[in-house]
Amino acid sequence: MRYDQIPNSLFVTNRKNFINKMKPNTIAILTSNDVKHNNADDVMAFSQNNDLFYLCGIDQEDTLLVLYPDAYKKENRTILFIKETNEHIKIWDGEKLTKEQATSISGIKRIEWVQDFEMQLQYMAFEADGFYLGHNEHLKRLTKDQETQQDRMIKWCKKKYPLHEYYRAAKITRALRQIKSQEEIALMQKAADISVSSFKNVLKACKPKIKEYELEAELYYNLVKFGATRHAFQPIVASGKNACALHYNTNDSVCNDDDMILLDFGVCYANYNSDTTRCFPVNGRFTDRQKEVYSSVLYCLKEGSKLLKPGMIHSDYEKQMTTLAESELIKLGLLNKEDVALQNPEKPLYKKYFMHGTAHHIGLDVHDVGLYSRTIEEGMVFTCEPGIYIAEEGIGCRLENDYLITSTGNLNLTEAMPIEIDDIERLME
Ligand code: GLY
Ligand code: MN
Ligand code: MN
Repeated sequence: MRYDQIPNSLFVTNRKNFINKMKPNTIAILTSNDVKHNNADDVMAFSQNNDLFYLCGIDQEDTLLVLYPDAYKKENRTILFIKETNEHIKIWDGEKLTKEQATSISGIKRIEWVQDFEMQLQYMAFEADGFYLGHNEHLKRLTKDQETQQDRMIKWCKKKYPLHEYYRAAKITRALRQIKSQEEIALMQKAADISVSSFKNVLKACKPKIKEYELEAELYYNLVKFGATRHAFQPIVASGKNACALHYNTNDSVCNDDDMILLDFGVCYANYNSDTTRCFPVNGRFTDRQKEVYSSVLYCLKEGSKLLKPGMIHSDYEKQMTTLAESELIKLGLLNKEDVALQNPEKPLYKKYFMHGTAHHIGLDVHDVGLYSRTIEEGMVFTCEPGIYIAEEGIGCRLENDYLITSTGNLNLTEAMPIEIDDIERLME
């Protein structure tokens, strides 16, 4: 693995917490993700199922975790099934995890080969009353028509054991994953630190007429160099009016002299992510108008991030962010105070210039799992990302940091990433 091995105490504790939430005499089965295919004989880079990773730390395909805390036989309480290697795999793909390595990573003593899963499960299923199975329940799930390994496991298990009870593993993991442990915070801090140096490299490389994808290359070079696995998501390098398309990521335009660039990118280190946005002028000097818009967004970020603290209700936070943005839009001359006073609350005027939410959980997923109805608590990590997009002026500005909620407020994990206008201009000299 590229990253330093994570202490397996993290996964031991995660399993303990998961087991504490299981109903009596039930078995949990967590699956890995599929290796996804491109065309012909090519495959995409593997990314592990995050619930499985959270509970055992194994970053390899064809992995199954079985937890049966009430098993009559002690050796059946936790079993990890991994892919058995052979000469063919060794020659073509290289080494796979040995049983000893899997134990060292996961802290699980009993490791079996994945082809023995069905037979081993049979011994336990006849004693158990129900199953917890994994499923992607994310509120913005995109895998609607693709059958995942989780879907296949649900189908297979329900067919084989139709009279058992079935429960949702994701309901437990989404509650646990919302609160980050010290080990997880350290990994997220590492991702944030790599983001900071990547951003500084981009500032140094930027000059008029550079292509957006050349700046994307600076990000990728730096994150690979420092042991990160991949971009946390397809980075957005959007110059000028491109920044007004919220999910622009073709990154194929030329950066023109007087334009501002919106750079929204994240680093995935040991499967934990950062998600940051910065804006900077192509030629190193903000225009007066860019400064005005930027200062408004920075004000919203500074004031808004103060609201991210224990006890805050997420929807109240988002409401207060829109109030902040609305008053900045009036100051910028984009909205008229009287019109705002008379606006239809169902169709608020600010939405023309500020059309997205500003705080999402972040962790193993960039838009991490977790209920937004849950009051904000210590140990959660949120982004704060206000933005103002003025298509008619070719200016789009968003600023985004990652905040760990502490007992008294929050800690900015991305504090070291330059954000003040003077600092950015100085770094671009
Ligand atoms: N880049 C995704 C987000 O900021 O939420
Ligand atoms: Mn982002
Ligand atoms: Mn974000």
